[in-house]
Amino acid sequence: MAFELLVIVVSYLLGSVSFSVLLARLLKGIDIRHYGSGNAGATNTLRVMGKGPAILVLVLDVLKGIAAVWLGTWAGGWGGWVAVACGIAAIIGHNWPLYFHFRGGKGIATTIGVMATLCFWPALTAGILAILAIVFTRYVSLGSLIFVALTPVFLLFTGFTAPELWGSLIIAVFAFWRHRSNIVKISQGRENKIGSKVKEGN
Ligand code: G3P
Repeated sequence: MAFELLVIVVSYLLGSVSFSVLLARLLKGIDIRHYGSGNAGATNTLRVMGKGPAILVLVLDVLKGIAAVWLGTWAGGWGGWVAVACGIAAIIGHNWPLYFHFRGGKGIATTIGVMATLCFWPALTAGILAILAIVFTRYVSLGSLIFVALTPVFLLFTGFTAPELWGSLIIAVFAFWRHRSNIVKISQGRENKIGSKVKEGN
């Protein structure tokens, strides 16, 4: 039990490495949390620093999720509670990072890594629909919410373990909680569209 707890803590510490904050500091000497939407994630990196850094942040944040689930799988077996807990711990670390005053991102890129490792086909199907939503609406946040909401639904149509199903539901709740302000802005037509200038008050 102590070993399982240790890998969960290590996953949280891994998730806490906020690549958007680090890259913005390194390349521009700024705190990305004071620019654009204020979110420490790939979408805001795109707004503030452009495509190259955004792709790098996206890839690294996805890898954090993959690495955490691998670690948990190694410690507790495939599709088990430890693998799922490690994935959730990495997302919590990304959202509330220990090294950056607990002010992080919304966890979607790390969630992609976690869900694609735990349940590839449901995550891929939900991911395709999420990308279509982003292409048609240009709201990344809407695509993110579609991804987390649909992954547990598609999971029901494939073989799944109880930890995977419960884990995907917990992750969806986290994502909706972190996107509260985006949901309000979408409903008011004030949400930032990808590729547009950041709106006033955002
Ligand atoms: O994954 C984050 C995205 O869904 C929203 O980011 O910066 O537009 O709030 P942002």
